[in-house]
Amino acid sequence: MNEKYSISPDGEKFPLPTKEDYETELENLSKLIKKEQAKGREIVVVVGIGFVGAVMAGVVADSTDKTGKPTKFVIGMQRPSVRSFWKIKLLNRGLSPVKAEDPEVDIIINRCVLEKKNLIATFNEDVLKFADVVVVDVQCDYLKESLGDLSTGGVDMAALEKSFYTIAERIPAEALVLIETTVAPGTTEQIAYPIMKKVFERRKIKKDPLLAHSYERVMPGRNYVASIRDFWRVCSGINEKSKKRVVKFLSAVLNTKDYPLTVLDRPIESETAKIVENSYRATILAFLDEWSLFAERNGVDLTKVIKAIKVRPTHSNIIFPGPGIGGYCLPKDGGLGMWAYKHILGWEDNIFKITPVAININDTRGLHVAQLTRDALRNMGLSVASAEILILGASYREDVGDTRYSGSEIIVRRLTEMGSEIRVHDPYVQHWWEFEVQDSYPSTGYSLSRFFRNQEKLKNMCINQNLNEVLKGADAVIFAVRHKQYLNLNPDDVVKKIGKPAAIIDCFGILDDEKIRRYFELGCEVKGLGRGHVNRIKKSVAKAKEKKK
Ligand SMILES: NC(=O)c1ccc[n+]([C@@H]2O[C@H](COP(=O)([O-])OP(=O)(O)OC[C@H]3O[C@@H](n4cnc5c(N)ncnc54)[C@H](O)[C@@H]3O)[C@@H](O)[C@H]2O)c1
Repeated sequence: MNEKYSISPDGEKFPLPTKEDYETELENLSKLIKKEQAKGREIVVVVGIGFVGAVMAGVVADSTDKTGKPTKFVIGMQRPSVRSFWKIKLLNRGLSPVKAEDPEVDIIINRCVLEKKNLIATFNEDVLKFADVVVVDVQCDYLKESLGDLSTGGVDMAALEKSFYTIAERIPAEALVLIETTVAPGTTEQIAYPIMKKVFERRKIKKDPLLAHSYERVMPGRNYVASIRDFWRVCSGINEKSKKRVVKFLSAVLNTKDYPLTVLDRPIESETAKIVENSYRATILAFLDEWSLFAERNGVDLTKVIKAIKVRPTHSNIIFPGPGIGGYCLPKDGGLGMWAYKHILGWEDNIFKITPVAININDTRGLHVAQLTRDALRNMGLSVASAEILILGASYREDVGDTRYSGSEIIVRRLTEMGSEIRVHDPYVQHWWEFEVQDSYPSTGYSLSRFFRNQEKLKNMCINQNLNEVLKGADAVIFAVRHKQYLNLNPDDVVKKIGKPAAIIDCFGILDDEKIRRYFELGCEVKGLGRGHVNRIKKSVAKAKEKKK
C-alpha cells in the first residue's frame, strides 16, 4: 500500500480524498440528508465501518416500523485511511466491505444502498452535525509488548478518544451517542463523558451529553447478521434520559421482542459484562491447552473426550481449542479490564491471575503446531528447515475472512524462523495484511514479526486460492482452520494432488479416524493438536501392512 491510494482486497486502487472532495461531499450529503429528514427519518451515523460497524449499519438501515417502512437514514462514517478508505467506496456501490459466509450480509447492504437508498458511507466527519443517533464502532486496541506476557502491554485509546472529540465537536446537543466499541471498563463515564462535557461547554451547550453503552456480540461467519439483529443485548446509559433513548433505539432496530434487552444500571456494568464474557471464553479455551498436550502424550483423542463430556448439559460449552484463539476480541479484552483497573479506576494492587494466564496460553498455542510439524517431517526423514509447508486457512475461525490474531499467523512465523518455505490457501482471504504490510500492520512497530527471526521474506507471501495448485509438491499440509472446503477433503485426492505422501497436521479435530487411517495407509505421517490416538492408528496400519507381506 502506498501513501496516496487505498487498495481494496480485490486490488482496486482508490485515491484518497482531497480537500475539495470534502467540500463537495458535504454539499451533496447535506442536500440528501435534508430530504431524508423531511420524510421524518432519523439520521443515524455509524462511526467506523469495519467488521462490526458495516453490518450494524446495514441492520439499522434495514429495520422498519410496524407498517414495514424504513424510519432511519444511515450514514457509515469511516476515516479515509490508506487501510480503510476503500470500504467507503465499496459500500456506496452496494457491496459489503466485509466478506463472510452469511449471504445476508451482502443482501442487506445491497438492498439498503441500492433499493431502499437509506444507507451510504462517507469520509466527511461533518455529517455528524445532522445525527440524531451516533453509533461508535471504532476499534480500541490492547497493544502487547511481548509474546505470551499480557502484563507488559497497554490500551491504545488514541482512535477512540479522538472520535469522542470529533463527535462532541459536531453533534447536536440532543443526539444520543451509543458506544458499541469494547472498551476498558470506566471509559464511558470517566473518559468519554468528561471529554464530551468539556467540548459541549466550549460550544456553550449547557446540557449533558447523552451517552450510552451497549456491546456487540457479533460472530462473523454463517450467522453474521443474526448475531447482531436476532441476539440478546446488554445496555446502559449515563443517566435516565440516555438509558431511555438507548432502549428506544435498540428496540427499534433489533429483534428485541424475541431477544429482550438486559438494561444495567451504569455503563461500567455493561462494559464489565463484555470484558468478563470474553475473558470467560478465553479462559475455558486456554484451560484445554494443557489437556490437549496431556492427550497427545498419552494416546488420548481430545475430540472424543470433549464429545463425551458435552453430553452432560452443565458442560455443553466446553470447546476444542484450535491452533490459537484469535479474532480481534478474545486476545485483548481481558487486557482492557486489567488496564482499566489500574489506569482508569486507580487501583495499585494486582488482582488478576487467571485472565492473563489464559490469554498468554492462547497467544502462544500456535507454536506447538510448528513442533508437531517438525516431528512429523522428521519421522518421514525430512527436515523442517528445508520443507515446503502448506497452511490451509489463514483466518482466525471457520468461514470468515478475518485474519486478526489467527493461530495460523504464529504457525507461519515460527516455521519460517525454523527455515521452512510457506504457502497458504484460504478461500475467504485475498490479502494477509499481517505479512504483506508487516512494517505497518496492525500498526507500526506492533507486528508479531518482531518476536521471530527471518521474517523479512514473508512480505512476499501470497495467498493462493487454487487448492489443486497449492497442494502440488507440499512436504507438509497443516489443517489450521475448519473452513467448509477442508472438512470433506478425501485423503486419496489430497495425496494425489500433492503427488507424494506428506506430513498431515490436524489443528482442529478436522480428520476423523477413517481419514487418519487412510493417510497412514497412503504413506503419510499424521499428527494433530490433542490427537494422541494417532499413534495407535499408525501402529495398526503398520501391523496390517506387515500381515499382508
Ligand atoms: N469483530 C468482532 O467479531 C467483534 C465482536 C464483538 C465486538 N467487537 C468490538 O467492536 C469494535 C469494532 O471492531 P471491528 O472488528 O469492527 O474493528 P475494525 O478495525 O474492523 O473496524 C473499525 C473501523 O473504524 C474505523 N475508524 C477508526 N477510528 C475512526 C474514526 N475516528 N472515525 C471513523 N472511523 C474510524 C477504522 O478505520 C475501521 O474501519 C471493537 O471494540 C471490537 O472489540 C468486535
